[in-house]
Amino acid sequence: MRVLLTGGTGYIGSHTAVELLAAGHDVVLLDNLANSSARAVSAIRKVSGREVSFIRGDIRDGNSLDGVFQTHAVDAVIHLAALKAVGESVAKPDAYNDTNVTGSRRLVERMAAHGVTTLVFSSTAAVYGDPASTPITEACPASPQSPYARTKREVEELLRDLHRADPRWRISILRYFNAVGAHPSGQLGEDPRGVPDNLLPYIAQVAAGRRERLDVFGDGYPTRDGTGVRDYLHVVDLARGHLAALDYIRRSPGVALHNLGTGRGHTVLEVLHAFEAVCERTIPYRITARRPGDVAVSCADVSRAREELGWTATHDLQKICEDLWLWQSSHPDGYGDDHSPTSTLGVSGNDSASSQRAKRMPSS
Ligand code: WQD
Repeated sequence: MRVLLTGGTGYIGSHTAVELLAAGHDVVLLDNLANSSARAVSAIRKVSGREVSFIRGDIRDGNSLDGVFQTHAVDAVIHLAALKAVGESVAKPDAYNDTNVTGSRRLVERMAAHGVTTLVFSSTAAVYGDPASTPITEACPASPQSPYARTKREVEELLRDLHRADPRWRISILRYFNAVGAHPSGQLGEDPRGVPDNLLPYIAQVAAGRRERLDVFGDGYPTRDGTGVRDYLHVVDLARGHLAALDYIRRSPGVALHNLGTGRGHTVLEVLHAFEAVCERTIPYRITARRPGDVAVSCADVSRAREELGWTATHDLQKICEDLWLWQSSHPDGYGDDHSPTSTLGVSGNDSASSQRAKRMPSS
C-alpha cells in the first residue's frame, strides 16, 4: 500500500514510517515541521534503506492536501499530525482546536474528495481522564480533562459520524498510552523542543548533563512508592501497532477502537532507577508538588488489541531505557536543528534531505 503519514517527520511518525517501509509499503510524509525536523527524513531513509517522499505542508491547507493526493496514489492515511502538549493546550486551546480538530476535518474532507477512505487516527489515553479503575479498557467512559484530550475526543466523534454517513470508511482509532524510547539503531528518536514536558526525555537529558536534576511531581500517590504510575510503551511497539491496525481495518470495514499499551505500570522512581542502571550514572532528583491534572495510575488493558489486532508490546522497560540512552548519548541535540522557525528546511516531493538543506522556506 502507499500510505500517507501526516506528522510523518515527528517522533511517532518517523518510527511508523520505518516500520511501514520494512513491511514493503510505500510511504509519503506530510509535515509542517512545526514540532519536528526535516532531518528525520534522511534518518528514515538511512535506517530503512528505502526512498520516502516528503512534502512540507499543513493539514489545514486544502490545496496542499489536494496536491499530495493528486501527486501520490494514496491508499490509506495514518493521521499523526497534531499539537500534543497537555499543559500548552490549557494556555492555547484555540491553537489546539485549529490544528487538531479543524486540521482533521480538512484532512478527511480532502480524503473523501480523492476517494481515500482508509484512516488510522492517533488518539490518546488522555481521553480517559482520571479513570475510575485501572487497567483501562476501551469500554471505560471518556472523560477528557484538558483541551488537548478534548480535541482528540472530538475528532474520534467526527470519525464515527463520518462512518455513519458513509459506511465505506474504514477507520481505526488508536488510544496511545505513554510512547517512549527510540529506534534501536540510535538514528531516530524524540527531539523535544525546549524543556521536555514528559518524563523519559527529561530523565535522558539529566543523564546527559543537559538538565541539573529531575523534579518528581509528588510522592504521595496510592502507589508502590508514592509516585505516579504509567504504562510506558516502546515507540517501535507503538509503530508496529499502526501496521496491525491498518491490516485489521483493511479486513473489517467500520470504526475500530484499540488501546495501545503494555498492560504493565511503572512508577516514576522505578523508571529513574532503571535508567540509572542503563546509563551507569546517578540521576539527581527532588520531590516537588504534584503537577495539576496528573492522575495516580494510568495503565492499559490491552486484551482487545491482542485478540483483534494480534498485537502485543515486546519491549520491556530496560530495552526502552537502553534504546533511549543510545539516541540521547549519540544525538545530545536531537537532529541538531536550531528549531527556530526559519531553520526549518526544505520542501517538496522526493527532494533528498541534503538538497533540502540548501533550500530555505519562509516559516509557515
Ligand atoms: C509521566 C509521569 C508525571 C515529568 C502525557 C499526556 C499524554 C501523552 C504523554 C500525548 C507522571 C511524572 C513527568 C517530570 C515527573 N501525550 N513526571 N517529572 O502525563 O502520563 O502523559 O504525555 O499524547 O496524552 O497526558 O506523561 O511523561 O508527562 O508523565 O515526575 O518532569 O511522570 O507526574 O506521573 P503523562 P509524562
